[in-house]
Amino acid sequence: MELSQALYTTRAMRRVKPDPIPDEILAKLLDAAVRAPSGGNTQSWRFLLVSDPAKRIALQKLYREGLTDLNATKYKAVMDLIKDGDPSDPEVIQAKKTNASAEWLADNLHLVPTLLFAWGKPNGESSIYPALWSLQLAATAEGIGTSLTTLLFKNHTQQVLELLGAPEPGVWVPMAMITLGYPTGRWGVAQRQPPHEVTFQDTWGNPVPWRVEKPLWQ
Ligand SMILES: Cc1cc2nc3c(=O)[nH]c(=O)nc-3n(C[C@H](O)[C@H](O)[C@H](O)COP(=O)(O)O)c2cc1C
Repeated sequence: MELSQALYTTRAMRRVKPDPIPDEILAKLLDAAVRAPSGGNTQSWRFLLVSDPAKRIALQKLYREGLTDLNATKYKAVMDLIKDGDPSDPEVIQAKKTNASAEWLADNLHLVPTLLFAWGKPNGESSIYPALWSLQLAATAEGIGTSLTTLLFKNHTQQVLELLGAPEPGVWVPMAMITLGYPTGRWGVAQRQPPHEVTFQDTWGNPVPWRVEKPLWQ
């Protein structure tokens, strides 16, 4: 797959089939992940692949609880928008789409064949993100859909770490869970606020001398 295609189409692909991902493909994805940069090249990361059905069922219950909590608190404004907003408003349409996809994941996490957990080291934990994004791009190239989630580490960190037999967060910081599976849908180009609206030239607030009216890769 051409790099631009992976860059432009790698999205939160939450709806996937239960078909298992072969070990040799998982090995390729992790091998791509560990090629990523890290501060001081410390490579301070640990990954844990979960395919055990009982663990996935337990994780789904925690994930479901977590999303229900967030919908009533942090995401309440979005939930109200979905309920009361103008159904023809593009913002409402997008919020509904994202919410339906997030709800699918919360109800079906146990059917996702592989869940990958990732840890970083305290004070260097942001180094995990290039590795995870590399893994997600490599997954797209293999026809595997991924979604990066952090929700389980909002309210249920202790329970998740116990379930996984993982150390206390002081030594290894739990950062994210990536879901992996063969998609039920198709990849489309991610719609985003265009780059000229979020990029300045030389001084904060100065516009850049270019515009990107539509994505530069189709
Ligand atoms: C740091 C981070 C945390 C995220 N956490 C979650 C999460 O807990 N659950 C979830 O369903 N998606 C999560 N996402 C995915 C975002 O919701 C997604 O990237 C965004 O809605 C854009 O969607 P798209 O890729 O389909 O265009 C997370 C993404 C990032 C970068």
